[in-house]
Amino acid sequence: MDGNGRWAERQGEHRVMGHANGVRSVREALTGATEIGVKYLTLYAFSTENWNRPKAEVEALMDLLVRTVVGELEELNANGVRLHAIGDIASLPDSCRNTLQDAIAATAKNDRITITLALSYSSRWELVRMTREIATKVRAGELTPEQITEETLEQHLSTIGMPDPELLIRTSGEQRLSNFLLWQIAYAELWFTPVLWPDFRKEHLYQAVLDYQNRERRFGLVSEQVTPR
Ligand code: IPE
Ligand code: MG
Repeated sequence: MDGNGRWAERQGEHRVMGHANGVRSVREALTGATEIGVKYLTLYAFSTENWNRPKAEVEALMDLLVRTVVGELEELNANGVRLHAIGDIASLPDSCRNTLQDAIAATAKNDRITITLALSYSSRWELVRMTREIATKVRAGELTPEQITEETLEQHLSTIGMPDPELLIRTSGEQRLSNFLLWQIAYAELWFTPVLWPDFRKEHLYQAVLDYQNRERRFGLVSEQVTPR
């Protein structure tokens, strides 16, 4: 979700206004995804690097997170949405972490769609943590280096139990990955749009999905193998 700050600045408003207006886009993306049967929607809401933004903006984002989670909880439950989070959740302010954990617990039984908020998340953070955990197991004699497989790594990623993303959408015209799910998106289809996040609507999601449906995903194979003719 990118472009909140620019959206606000273009209208002479403070960046925080852009974040507040991005909440509607989250709702649109979530209801849009739910309606077409998407089972997992993961939103990159706050990166490890975002902590280095001006203190007032970080505080405003944390505050917005708490208010949004509290405000949307009833709606999430009404629509069968399970809330989940990945990232260094322990680093969030207490009020934020508690609100989040309460909402995760309150929606745990919902199974129509899982919305995952990546908070204080970055791929490099996750890969370092994974390496430490695996190294610790090897040192303890629970695992030999030869036993380490792709599955071993996947079991130590914060996305454990989740399928790899099929489609990655980035708004605001930037064409980069910014430390997001680097292992998991090995074969994801990428979709970029100049639309700024606060302007993102269900229609944009559907545009991305239609584009995705017309792509041939070969996973390293040749066309005849994946699309028999
Ligand atoms: C995305 O919008 C939201 C977060 C990173 C929290 P930005 O805040 O990155 O907006 P721009 O890129 O400055 O326009
Ligand atoms: Mg940005």
